[in-house]
This record gives sequence, C-alpha cells and structure tokens, in this order.
Amino acid sequence: MRILVLGGTSEATALAALLARRRDLDAVLSYAGRTAELKRQPVATRVGGFGGVDGLVGYLTEHGVDVVVDATHPFAEQMSRHAAEAAARTGVPLVALTRAAWTPVPGDRWVEVESLDAAATAIGAKPRRVLLTVGRLGLKAFEAAPQHHYLIRSIDPPDELGLPNAHVILDRPPFDAGAEEALMRSERIQVLVTKNSGGKATSGKLAAARALGLPVVIVRQPARPDVPTVRDPAAAMRFIDTTGVARAAERARDRAEAEAAAADHPVSPDGAVSPEGAVSPDGAGSPDGTPDPDTGADRGV
Ligand SMILES: NC(=O)c1ccc[n+]([C@@H]2O[C@H](COP(=O)([O-])OP(=O)(O)OC[C@H]3O[C@@H](n4cnc5c(N)ncnc54)[C@H](OP(=O)(O)O)[C@@H]3O)[C@@H](O)[C@H]2O)c1
Repeated sequence: MRILVLGGTSEATALAALLARRRDLDAVLSYAGRTAELKRQPVATRVGGFGGVDGLVGYLTEHGVDVVVDATHPFAEQMSRHAAEAAARTGVPLVALTRAAWTPVPGDRWVEVESLDAAATAIGAKPRRVLLTVGRLGLKAFEAAPQHHYLIRSIDPPDELGLPNAHVILDRPPFDAGAEEALMRSERIQVLVTKNSGGKATSGKLAAARALGLPVVIVRQPARPDVPTVRDPAAAMRFIDTTGVARAAERARDRAEAEAAAADHPVSPDGAVSPEGAVSPDGAGSPDGTPDPDTGADRGV
C-alpha cells in the first residue's frame, strides 16, 4: 500500500518513524523545501511543490497512492486546501494529522488576532522589545511597525530583512520553558508575537510569557478543509489500516477485472482489438471502447 505524507512538522516525522516499521507500507514523506537542511528520515522523501491541485492529482494517479496524510503545519493553508481538492477529485482517502490549537490558561495575557498584519498593529504604537517567532516567511508584515526592536527567531536566516531594528537568532525546536524564560529576561522582552501553532515543541514560550506576566500577540489558526482529522500518528496509522486497506483492495479488484477483460479481448500486434472492442490510438481503452478512467490510477511506478 502506498502512502503519501505531506510533511514539514514533527508529527509528520513521528508518523514516518511508525510507517518505516511496516514492511507492507510504502511511504513517501513530502517537503515543500522551505528549510535548507532536512532531517534524515527512515522513509523515502521528495522535495518541492506538486504544481497546484492538478500537479497533485497527477502525482497521486501516477504513483498509485492509496492514502494521503496531510501532516502539514496548521498554517500551511494552501497545501491543505490542495490536498482536500485532489483527494476529492481522485477518490484517494485523505486524513489530516494536525495538532490542536493552544488555548489560554489563567495567567495568560493573550491578544488574539486573525493575521500577521493585525499582529503587527496589535503590538501598539509605542516602541517595544518584541520576541517574534512567526517564521522567516512571515516577517514582511512587521515592516509596517518598524518602531519596535525585534528579536527574531527562525530555523533558517531570513532572505531579506526590512526591519531597521532587529536581531536574528537561528534555532530549531523543541524549546523548553526555562530556557525561553531566560531568553526573555536577558533580552528584556516586553511582548511575544507568535502564531497559534499548537503542539508541545514550541509551547515553552507561552509558559515563559505567563511566568513573566508578558502580553502575547497570537495569530489564530486558519480554518481547515472539512476532512477526517486525527491528533496523533498512531491514529493516522489506524486510518491507513482501515480506509487505506479498503481502497487498496478496491484498486486491486479493479485491476484484476481490467486484466480479465483484457484477456477475454486480446489486442492484436497491430494495436487493433477483438471485433467487439476498440482501442484508442495509444492502445489504451476498455474492451467496450470507452476510455477506462482507472487505467492511469492503477499504474504504480
Ligand atoms: N506556515 C507555517 O507557519 C509553517 C510552520 C512550520 C512548518 N511549515 C511547513 O512548511 C511547509 C510550507 O508551508 P507553507 O505555509 O509555505 O505552505 P502553503 O502556503 O500551504 O503551501 C504553498 C505551496 O507550497 C507547496 N507545499 C507546501 N507544503 C508542501 C509539502 N509538504 N510537500 C510539497 N509541497 C508543499 C505547495 O506547492 P504546489 O502548489 O506547487 O504543490 C503549496 O501549494 C509545509 O510543509 C509546512 O508543513 C509551515
């Protein structure tokens, strides 16, 4: 059974570890290619966009994918939308493996906003020392608020930094709450700005802000497509073992039927078919002369 995991998260990495233990599963972990250095993975990987919904439909069909797991980041809105559309078009089962959003607890001073632009405004007019952890691709929005001092943390260096008063630290999660508090103290941070990414790996900064009584400007998660959703890799494996197995069996049955039909109506060496059938110029087509929509889907590579 062939599984495509759309990755770029710690959940995708954890799922890859489970998939690698299963000899009956053939998994590919897909990355957008945003970070320069990828972690080594125990399953095959591919890097780069698919070319929109059409490109993803083509990939699923050409590679005979039986299940797609959308384990992208909660803010990877476009990829999740494309996955839902491609799954609907191909009939390939899709499950989203995504973390729950963080929710405020007593002591938190959150200002929840809908976008990065709104976050830049919410910091306020007065210059402040800001810990900015929105990812390097989200920094542009803060050029509208150049009066603040920004301590920017990201995995890779920002390409261009249009902020006059900023310092970048490069680091990778997980981050623990104690270290986050020490960083905020030593940098005299006055406000934390972050996306509501959920998960444990980066939640230490929220606990640190709470301990220090600091306000947090936090961008709400975007709405996700309405698809089956699980919260942990083990649940994604259960989905694969039920829905995916059913899909693979259905495809095997279709393939067997197509082969049986082809055996009943053999194609002659010049590409012609038995009298009651017809073939398209490239030799494809079902015996009754109608194109077989599943032919491509069944051709794994
Ligand atoms: N957004 C965040 O805050 C954030 C944080 C941490 C990690 N990430 C990870 O970084 C990656 C990019 O995030 P994004 O917010 O830029 O995505 P996005 O805006 O939803 O996607 C933009 C395009 O990038 C390509 N893409 C995205 N994820 C892909 C994947 N896993 N495999 C292959 N192509 C992918 C797709 O290109 P085509 O249309 O050409 O297929 C997609 O249309 C994702 O893997 C995500 O999980 C994102």
